[in-house]
Amino acid sequence: MSTAIDVRRTRVDLPTTGTPPTHPRLLAWLDEVVDLCQPDAVHYCDGSEDEWAALVAELETKGTIIRLNADLKPNSILARTDPDDVARVEDQTFICSKDERNAGPTNNWMDPDQMRRIMTPLFDGAMAGRTMYVIPFCMGHLDAPDPKFGVEVTDSAYVALSMKILTRMGAEVMARMEEHDADFVPALHSVGMPLTDSMTDVPWPCNETKYIVHFTDDRVIWSYGSGYGGNSLLGKKCYALRIASVMARDEGWLAEHMLILKLISPEGREYHIAAAFPSACGKTNLAMLEPTIPGWRVETLGDDIAWLRFGADGRLYATNPETGFFGVAPGTSYATNPNAMRTIEGGNSIFTNVALTPDGDVWWEGMTAEKPEQVVDWKGRQWRGVGGPVGGRPDEKAAHPNSRFCTPIEQCPILSDDYHRPEGVPLDAIIFGGRRENTIPLVTQSRDWQHGVFMGATCSSETTAAASGAVGVLRRDPMAMLPFIGYHVADYVQHWINMGRRSSASALPKIFYVNWFRRDADGRFMWPGFGENSRVLKWVAERVDGKVDAVETPIGYVPAPGGLDVDGLDISDEDLAGVVGYTETEWRDEVPRIGRWFDTFGWRLPREMVDELRALETAFGRA
Ligand code: PEP
Ligand code: NA
Ligand code: MN
Repeated sequence: MSTAIDVRRTRVDLPTTGTPPTHPRLLAWLDEVVDLCQPDAVHYCDGSEDEWAALVAELETKGTIIRLNADLKPNSILARTDPDDVARVEDQTFICSKDERNAGPTNNWMDPDQMRRIMTPLFDGAMAGRTMYVIPFCMGHLDAPDPKFGVEVTDSAYVALSMKILTRMGAEVMARMEEHDADFVPALHSVGMPLTDSMTDVPWPCNETKYIVHFTDDRVIWSYGSGYGGNSLLGKKCYALRIASVMARDEGWLAEHMLILKLISPEGREYHIAAAFPSACGKTNLAMLEPTIPGWRVETLGDDIAWLRFGADGRLYATNPETGFFGVAPGTSYATNPNAMRTIEGGNSIFTNVALTPDGDVWWEGMTAEKPEQVVDWKGRQWRGVGGPVGGRPDEKAAHPNSRFCTPIEQCPILSDDYHRPEGVPLDAIIFGGRRENTIPLVTQSRDWQHGVFMGATCSSETTAAASGAVGVLRRDPMAMLPFIGYHVADYVQHWINMGRRSSASALPKIFYVNWFRRDADGRFMWPGFGENSRVLKWVAERVDGKVDAVETPIGYVPAPGGLDVDGLDISDEDLAGVVGYTETEWRDEVPRIGRWFDTFGWRLPREMVDELRALETAFGRA
């Protein structure tokens, strides 16, 4: 598999642009990477506008991207990937801890030495004919008490551009790292398509062989073969969730797959809420929600990742380690998420695998009620009317279901000022949720922290297009972290339980479980969702303040009749009862499913979770 290279070159032999670092451990690592990957040139990224322009020009020449109409989407581009490189590859994602017990059973484990033996030949010469980009970045605020640095080395200019949007990166970060001789997470990425001899490049280089690998003891990331978002933008899922979750276990905090929002009541009372839903289940929509109930407002702090740490006051503070959104495009519209639309109107965005309109704008399914007369689809095929692409099937989508917009958070019109606070915001509530057509009611409040952890640990959802594999299959997704936990799921749940013991019940956020996706017997959604979800947020806020009654049930507190504000909402009594209530027969089926899920944890299943399950079995009867 390794590529024949006649003369192996060292870093100092290579043509270089940008300013090389002076950080000794970084230089030593870069020497190793050049020695292994053998790029043709090195570029040290500074994150400047000039650099952005140069990388865009280069990607345009290669045919990777198209510039959009600058009057409609200023400074924005459209990238089309290889049709086989469109989503995270969970099957090829590994946690390589030295001890096998520090991984699994929800993630793939391999011995780190064995993985290095597999991947070293893949990386050998992998960057031949390409430029290696060195991207210093910081997840979270540079002024955080313990800033989390990383350096991604990649042969993809698309990655370098995307990292500028999603992270704090470039010269300022490098200066900070050098000033403090800071530790950093080395994150190596290659698309895995060396250009040797007479080989010509393709618009979206990648490799059929893909590995997304986390050496969790050493805090090192290796990613090979994919240029797609979650596989290649290593600050995001790989660092800020998988590696950070391990750091958090060891350091006493939490790295979570959560949005962060501020809810403001008509009286001006502020509530900070974090919510964990699986990929493509509406985190971005909830984060930027426009309430339908008069007088209430939402401000956004983040849409995908939250780091939670206790403050000196015993409250749990949430920060967003990212600087941009990497949102699922289809379904996003002025009706479903006007603030996301306004954010991308600001330009400076990368669209991936969406459709292109004749006037140089983007389009995707669900953006407008009618399909435009003419588009170029995500595979670059002309498409006229509703007949589908020329040479394709009429039922194909113009935008890939997992197509994305990557856009700076600072362009969000409802960005909270508190986003800039290094210490973050104190959480009043944590919400878990999933996509379930039955069983899980619209909203349930946990009895206490431990019961809330049980809700999170047993959370389940029907799969979406965000990862490769079948769509619509029910799977457990603990805290929406199934693809992102960097260690053993039993230890992860235990860590959540332990975190709750570090503060008082009154200081801890209240925990809720929501489901916007319940359907009736005909498969119709019973709850309108989107802006109407503000009614649920209002109930959450009133529960936090102890201002509204709830009914205690075996599955937790549900809204008392009349407790949920449905004023002005067009919903039948039947649908309302169907969506707010719980059905005993459904829960009799659910309890044994939870038992089977917990069986997969093995002997390390926390006792507290057994206790919670026993309580449900007592209420609903054992199967
Ligand atoms: C991705 O898929 O690349 C990604 C960043 O996130 P998610 O799947 O959570 O939307
Ligand atoms: Na940035
Ligand atoms: Mn996500």
